[in-house]
Amino acid sequence: MVSRVIPVAPFDLVVFGGTGDLARRKILPALFRRFLSGQMGDTSRVIGAARSEMDAGAYRGFVRAAIEEFDAAAARDRAQLDAFLERVGYVAVDAKGSAGWGELAAALTEGRVRAFYFSVGPSLFGDLAQRLHDYGLADEDSRIVVEKPFGRDLDSARALNRGLARHFDEHQIYRIDHYLGKETVQNLMAVRFGNMLFEPLWNSQYVDHIQITVAESVGVGGRGEYYDRAGAMRDMMQNHLMQLLCLIAMEPPAKFDPDAVRDEKLKVIRALDPVEPGNVVRGQYEAEGDKPDYRAQVGNPDSATESFVALKAHISNWRWAGTPFYLRTGKRLKARASEIAVVFKETPHSIFGEEAGRHRNILTIKLQPNEGIELGVTIKEPGPGGMRLVDVPLDMTFAEALGPDSAEFPDAYERLIMDVIRGNQTLFMRGDEVEAAWAWTDPIIAAWEERGEPPQSYATGSTGPEDALMLMHRDGRRWREIKP
Ligand code: BG6
Repeated sequence: MVSRVIPVAPFDLVVFGGTGDLARRKILPALFRRFLSGQMGDTSRVIGAARSEMDAGAYRGFVRAAIEEFDAAAARDRAQLDAFLERVGYVAVDAKGSAGWGELAAALTEGRVRAFYFSVGPSLFGDLAQRLHDYGLADEDSRIVVEKPFGRDLDSARALNRGLARHFDEHQIYRIDHYLGKETVQNLMAVRFGNMLFEPLWNSQYVDHIQITVAESVGVGGRGEYYDRAGAMRDMMQNHLMQLLCLIAMEPPAKFDPDAVRDEKLKVIRALDPVEPGNVVRGQYEAEGDKPDYRAQVGNPDSATESFVALKAHISNWRWAGTPFYLRTGKRLKARASEIAVVFKETPHSIFGEEAGRHRNILTIKLQPNEGIELGVTIKEPGPGGMRLVDVPLDMTFAEALGPDSAEFPDAYERLIMDVIRGNQTLFMRGDEVEAAWAWTDPIIAAWEERGEPPQSYATGSTGPEDALMLMHRDGRRWREIKP
């Protein structure tokens, strides 16, 4: 299977924070991949911008090292890497002052798409937007890309939105949630809205509950300072898991267009009930072997920040009233495994008698690793011995169904950056969506802060704190196993 590369218009992409960690790990390697696919055409360019004084040659060295470290396979093509680096420039700019801005403006080519990637902390978003405006760079053809965290609560998110809106229209602002760029996440929409099979059953009459798990095996690594101020709720739940919840629960949009999709997602967030404190479990990982515990890793011995959170949510609308959504995410868990499971109800009556047992269909959308979709169906166990039933998966692992090349789809960042250049906002969050997500999250956080309860500890390599299991057990349900 050969993947199709859709050409994009020539562009200049400026990466503010071009020497930062995200640029190194994700943005620059993603751009190189798109270059390799031919999507950067003959003239498109990447310009790193940051505070450090260095010349373009030194920055190219930095970009080369980043690509070699984070995409060793692609970097093997030396000739192509050299050719890509020729498209890379650098300008030292001061986000809060005037240094470098004239030079940056002069470095950009007139009449082509201009994208400004704010790969910097949110405290600089407003300054950057202001400078772009002051130096005549905030024109109709320019767009800005902003990274999470988009604020830390509703008030700060509103302030960020206001700061950006002073100089850019909403259609020029691309708020990244890289989960929306993941292949399977988009497949979720294809499965729901491209098949007749599922949609009629997609409601509380047929669906017992939905579970969303985003489990990581890694700890907070070198991001302790940021993470300890955020925690799993702000770092993952408010954005990534919330977006997955929206896609799974939303009404069919009239068309696959940015506002139609985002309107439906927004309705889901607004229909979420407040979460009762008893339906939230927080955890913090313990040490194991030479791996430090959470507090040691973030360097805060009294930290009450959670590295795990699980909760039960309800959506009060006609489709979902009565179907709980169980969401959990955490670090240092048993495996890196993320999935959404739609667990259907049992058949209303079993014609096979008690001994056949009761069975459920489960549709599992596996985000990572091994992207794919699996439908659990109940069949007769082969052989004699009566009507014994067994659940087997109808497996649609993409690599198996579509050939090995299908596993070679663009990384989320590649896809999202190209969508920015194309001007397609479908996979980006709108300002009102982000605010609604904070409006739902804030009271959950306020409730635990008020109670002052520390998170429960959980063993590294486990499935999280005991109480997270209880969250489902007490409803007569259980979490699916965390396995890759
Ligand atoms: C980021 C979070 O947004 O997503 C990280 O800040 C997390 O803490 C990461 O590790 C997970 O992304 P992925 O694509 O590896 O699942």
